[in-house]
Amino acid sequence: MMRTIPLAALLFCSFASVAPADAPLEGTKPAQWRVVWMDDPSTKATILWSTAKQGQYHSVQYHVKGDDQEPAEQLARTGQYTGGKTELFYHQVQLTDLEPATAYEIKLISDKNESAAFYFVTAPVLDREFSILHGGDSRSDRETRREVNAMIAKMFAESYENDDPADDILAFAHGGDYIVDGKKMDLWSAWLSDHELTTAPDGRLLPIIPARGNHDHGKPFNEVFGFPESDLNYYGINIGPEVRFVTLNSEISTAGDQANWLAQELERSRPNNRWLLVQYHRPVYPAVKGPGAGLKSWVPLFEEYNIDLACEADGHNIKRTVPIRGGKIDESGVVYIGEGGLGVPQRTPKTDRWFLESPGMADKGNHIFVLTFEKEKLDGKCVLLGGEVRDEFSRPIRATVAAP
Ligand SMILES: [Fe+2]
Repeated sequence: MMRTIPLAALLFCSFASVAPADAPLEGTKPAQWRVVWMDDPSTKATILWSTAKQGQYHSVQYHVKGDDQEPAEQLARTGQYTGGKTELFYHQVQLTDLEPATAYEIKLISDKNESAAFYFVTAPVLDREFSILHGGDSRSDRETRREVNAMIAKMFAESYENDDPADDILAFAHGGDYIVDGKKMDLWSAWLSDHELTTAPDGRLLPIIPARGNHDHGKPFNEVFGFPESDLNYYGINIGPEVRFVTLNSEISTAGDQANWLAQELERSRPNNRWLLVQYHRPVYPAVKGPGAGLKSWVPLFEEYNIDLACEADGHNIKRTVPIRGGKIDESGVVYIGEGGLGVPQRTPKTDRWFLESPGMADKGNHIFVLTFEKEKLDGKCVLLGGEVRDEFSRPIRATVAAP
């Protein structure tokens, strides 16, 4: 058994056995693997995969990477994805009671087929520096999307090749518009196969934190990411004890229940976290289009509770606003970044909008943001496809947030 093999050999084995990206959808061979963070990622993770045929037996085998324990096994919840002509089946396992900051090796089992060995790492509970990725809009340029995903895998892997913990990429927040028509499963299937490309060469899976975009309407979204069937896709998670990351849904009412929830979430989170961020799809300070409804429903709350950064998508451009409070530039205000470039043709931003003027910026180009959470500052950089850094910024820790 693999568990009796020495660690060095195990590492080699794992490395060599990683399935190539674009695993074929054949019979009940596991493909389209992903890990989703939607609830306490220090102890929980949602594992999903797809098969072309329904099959009869689906489970995840998992154990702490490098230990010699018999793997635990958990049966999957299986169903057919809704939407269009493509027949495809999802399998979902929610692992709970995991140890924080721990690597878990997993194998996806569907009938007699088992996947290569992958692993993922749970979020820390001790205070440490780290990074996450944020991007949006991967819907309409598949070739570019695949190039961006390959770049993500490279950045993800390289972040662990040095002794600097601050650059370690723990997760990838996707701000929505995965595909052009969220009701078409053939498009989702292509996205899911492309998502395999974000896997690091050693089999490490990059957890995704999903937000819903205006092209993601329909039932497949919750099936793809493992949300309950009628979930409304707004939620907050802690990544470490000092970073609260809140995902909102700009595609349902931004007022009412969601705004009430947001007020409670921010009131509760702000005093307990050094960094408080939100992501959602439609920009409230857009560089191309008109503002989303969140401008009225959410921005007063962002300002009242002094969030540190808002991550937006949808516009298909690059932007970083000046800090904004009360509709004016104000150093104590909120900075908004975005707006989507994971594989979409780019639009020309309206650089004469007051909130984009220097020290803000706007441009276009497929890109991803790296957000690095340090003790005294939050650093951000916008990395263009190809690796050039187009923008860098830094947000100081808020004076109102007591250092722990
Ligand atoms: Fe959009």
